[in-house]
Amino acid sequence: MYRIKEFASIPSTSDYLKDNYKSLEDTDVVVAKHQTKGHGRLGRVWQDDSSSLLFSILLKNDIHADSASLIPLLAGAAVLSAFQELGVSSSIKWPNDLMLGDKKCTGIIVEGVSEEKIVALVVGIGVNVNNVSFDSSIQEKATSLRLYEKHTFDKKEVLRLIISSFDKLYKDYLKGDNSFISIIKTHSYLDGKEVYLDYYDEKKRATVIGIQDDGRLLIESDGKKSLLNAGEVSLQSVYASSH
Ligand code: BTN
Repeated sequence: MYRIKEFASIPSTSDYLKDNYKSLEDTDVVVAKHQTKGHGRLGRVWQDDSSSLLFSILLKNDIHADSASLIPLLAGAAVLSAFQELGVSSSIKWPNDLMLGDKKCTGIIVEGVSEEKIVALVVGIGVNVNNVSFDSSIQEKATSLRLYEKHTFDKKEVLRLIISSFDKLYKDYLKGDNSFISIIKTHSYLDGKEVYLDYYDEKKRATVIGIQDDGRLLIESDGKKSLLNAGEVSLQSVYASSH
């Protein structure tokens, strides 16, 4: 079972693993009640109160070229499967968000630790579990398990279920079985929706066709089809909106 280190307050569980990865082991987990410098993708701040589940998983073994683009999808599938075990239906807004209805409940950020090449990955996961309100800047877009299901959840149990699904899907992945792809394909939030792609200040409208067997997102824009890769650096500047 994964080793779990708990903190009451820490700047960021992901930063902790990045700073200490050398002395820690593959699949070590850090969980915090509160973060003072929690961050999300695209430089966003991750707001929390003690109602959220905030944790990160260190991956040090078998990091290869595909890992950076596939691990975010694997982590999303793990959270989705854990929610299913709790009786909660969710969907994946490719590549990194978990949705309950039309609102975001979970954010995932996978960061590489580089020493000439990537030597470790840190999977950071923030799940809104028992939150009853959000900052006005995100309240229209965010929800929690509690708000959606109208009862509270045990954060420890949610963590246990996510780690157990992650463990299974990650072991399969290391054996070459990408079973997580079929999970995200069948629970894709964006299929058929219009999105805006923000490439270097140029906003483009596109329609999402769907997630491919290799985890890439097939879109159509100006009559042309193209594939987006979740792990490409240029994707940091892609913003997909459901509006
Ligand atoms: C996103 O939605 O852009 C990703 C948010 C990820 C937030 C989690 S909370 C635990 C871990 N520590 C961090 O600093 N970030 C991730």
